[in-house]
Amino acid sequence: MKLADRMSLLAAEGAYAVLSRAQELERRGKSIIHFEIGQPDFATPVHITNSGIAALRAGKTKYTSPLGIVELRDVIARFITKTHGIETTRGQVAVTPSGKTAIFAAFAATISPGDEVMYPDPGFPTYRTLIDFFGGIAVPVPLVAANHFSFDMSVFRKRFSKRTRVVVLNSPSNPTGGVIPKSDIEEIASMVKHTDAWVVTDEMYSRMLYGSVPYASIYSLPKMKRQTIIVDGFSKTYAMTGWRLGYMVVPDTMIDRIDYLLTHLVGCTASFVQEAGIAALTGSQRASKRMVGEFHERRDIIVRKLNRISGIRCQVPDGAFYVFPDVSSFGMTSEKFASYVLSKAGVAVLPGTAFGNNGQGYIRISYAAKVRDIEEGVNRISRALSYL
Ligand SMILES: Cc1ncc(COP(=O)(O)O)c(C=O)c1O
Repeated sequence: MKLADRMSLLAAEGAYAVLSRAQELERRGKSIIHFEIGQPDFATPVHITNSGIAALRAGKTKYTSPLGIVELRDVIARFITKTHGIETTRGQVAVTPSGKTAIFAAFAATISPGDEVMYPDPGFPTYRTLIDFFGGIAVPVPLVAANHFSFDMSVFRKRFSKRTRVVVLNSPSNPTGGVIPKSDIEEIASMVKHTDAWVVTDEMYSRMLYGSVPYASIYSLPKMKRQTIIVDGFSKTYAMTGWRLGYMVVPDTMIDRIDYLLTHLVGCTASFVQEAGIAALTGSQRASKRMVGEFHERRDIIVRKLNRISGIRCQVPDGAFYVFPDVSSFGMTSEKFASYVLSKAGVAVLPGTAFGNNGQGYIRISYAAKVRDIEEGVNRISRALSYL
């Protein structure tokens, strides 16, 4: 039986492929340190979990409006108004059952077949897959180590044209942890402002920042609200990956279309999960802040240890919980390198190419792991490399 052509455009995400290889080795008795999966190793803060349980007990188990419950949409609108300094209303907010659904909806709403879409390479693999899925023309823009893993703006300028329909931004970035400086955001805004190109800004890691520079969102810049879609979620900030809760902020002129899209795609987001989302945004931020503080310490530990290994060069990323060290000096492709450290050292890392062609020469390590695992994992990598 024949499937629709678009189904052949889908592929596994690198992290899941490496995870299943690592788990297979574990089943055979090998000890594995997991650096491949991008999720906090902390439990969801108790007050958030309790709020979800209380909602279940109170019978909040029915459909809600496709855009989400009014209370959560209001809370998100207030949160965005405060963090971005731009008046944002409930009429711009759609709650989604994950950040990934928000990305899907944003792309479905803006990409027509043949439209050019600029996106970061290396970048979160869902962007490229969904650009292809919606028939867009993928226009990768390199993130370069020399710019602290921000865009090469000379390439950005060259690739931006009147055919550009969507620009995807992700800061701090998965997989590099890099943060786009305000000056680059301003330049991108000045380029798109006089066109009808959309900006989709994925701000999933915007509360995980370790530098002293304040977060810059393109949504906050004058007149950008009318052509910007923010996608965000609760997975990382509140250690809620399994709850599946995200949202999008769109121009109010578009919200009806998003309403219909969510109606037919998901119906709504789980009602008790939405209640937990209210607790997350309005309750104590102490647990989330403590988690970010721990990631900061782990970042310093892993960068220091990796840079002690001769041949590895690792930048100090300003956000998220990933490092993206340069391993090109070992003369192997990223895939070979990742496969070597998995089989020889029992350490699961992702090849940089799982995030696009510009990831060649790099690996991604998620340091959302216990400090003792970080130390053991890097020691094992160091030992395995000394045999080369
Ligand atoms: C950059 C980025 N955007 C979006 C997501 C999706 O998060 P979720 O679907 O768990 O909300 C992730 C998850 O890894 C991510 O790294």
